[in-house]
Amino acid sequence: MSVDSTEVMQEDLDSYRSLPALQQPLWPDAHELARATAVLAGSAPIAHPARADFLKERLAAVSRGEAFLLQGGDCAESFAEADATRIGNKIRTILQMAVVLTHGASMPVVKMGRMAGQFAKPRSSHVETRDGVELPAYRGDMVNAFEFTPEARRPDPMRMVEGYRISGSTLNLIEAFTQGGFADLRRVHEWNSGFLKNPAYKRYERTAKEIDRAIKFMAACGADFGALRTVDFFVGHEALLLDYERAMTRIDARTTKPYDTSAHFLWIGERTRQLDGAHVEFLSKVRNPLGVKLGPSTTCDDMLALAEKLDPEREPGRLTFITRMGAGNIRTALPKLLECARREGLVAAWATDPMHGNTITSATGYKTRRFTDVLDEVTGFFEVHRAVGTVPGGLHMELTGDDVTEVLGGAEEIDDEGLAARYETLVDPRLNHQQSLELAFLVAEMLVAAK
Ligand code: PEP
Ligand code: CO
Repeated sequence: MSVDSTEVMQEDLDSYRSLPALQQPLWPDAHELARATAVLAGSAPIAHPARADFLKERLAAVSRGEAFLLQGGDCAESFAEADATRIGNKIRTILQMAVVLTHGASMPVVKMGRMAGQFAKPRSSHVETRDGVELPAYRGDMVNAFEFTPEARRPDPMRMVEGYRISGSTLNLIEAFTQGGFADLRRVHEWNSGFLKNPAYKRYERTAKEIDRAIKFMAACGADFGALRTVDFFVGHEALLLDYERAMTRIDARTTKPYDTSAHFLWIGERTRQLDGAHVEFLSKVRNPLGVKLGPSTTCDDMLALAEKLDPEREPGRLTFITRMGAGNIRTALPKLLECARREGLVAAWATDPMHGNTITSATGYKTRRFTDVLDEVTGFFEVHRAVGTVPGGLHMELTGDDVTEVLGGAEEIDDEGLAARYETLVDPRLNHQQSLELAFLVAEMLVAAK
């Protein structure tokens, strides 16, 4: 590629700068920002474009109903918790869920973390007031710190550089876990059997026994379990912080196309998906597979215009619509979008985010969700796809591998008082390890019923 065309492409990547960008931090110092983005622009990629292309192929399989997507991780990752134990627990939880879902769906599961970059959050206000003191709102560890002091809440662009380093080492660890035997099918199944020792989960024993028999059958047939010791694991996050995403974008020498190398997959949030906004403009220019969150007010025209802008070539695997309607809305809001998509021949994968439309405040004052609502939205998602004849492609979950108490219910019956025991999230409530597995068993039952 000539120097000239690289320059043209670089300029084109900056077209978003003239458009309104919602949810950006008010960086107090332009020089600090320029220094941080220069460091990022000169740094090695986190996610390689070839892996992003491979993920696109896998998501194309999801859109055709030949694979199922499982995407999960924290609402907001934190720098302090990016340690091997917590990351390992999250990977383990996702792998355990994936085995159950693979069996339920009789299909490969595409595994993706909301990890290694999920460090920036949209907020309802630029400021937070406590006891009459007003400070900048916490916007994620890549922007400022959670602690409620003026120093901590000052947006600091060097935090993006710190976030870049932590994301890189997180992905490195994820690869070590998923390539180094941690993902061995028999071992993951053994973990699931451990989970089922708790009498609260008795109803899932049948599924676990079926998986057990399937593994024994594979062994008897001489299956190569050595080859099943490694899995592909991708990472994605909300592409919210445009200064970071732009600085991480490179022209890939192999394809001569721009890729956002901060992750394999990027999604645009419900609050920043305006057709004429900076986020949609910027992401339309990079070649990664993209997600777009769609809430209950989305119209058929909104959805078609987003698809036209982000995927004019109708490239399989490019676009995943992640619906987050709320349990009370999904059965009325989703059918019209799916019918429209089918009528217009849209090529997209569909996933459900049963978390963000179901946030409530508990009687004890915690931001929480009910496990029953989460499950009800997933159930509605399958029902509606089935009725319209489209493909329910996957799950997008806020979860953690630890035993936190942030979501109400589940077989262990966390109640309003129980939330206080271990409520650790920085932003939204996450399913804990047990609730995540329980959800996987319940979804596996739905997948079997849908066959
Ligand atoms: C999120 O995924 O953390 C989020 C903010 O979701 P949404 O954009 O769907 O509200
Ligand atoms: Co969230």
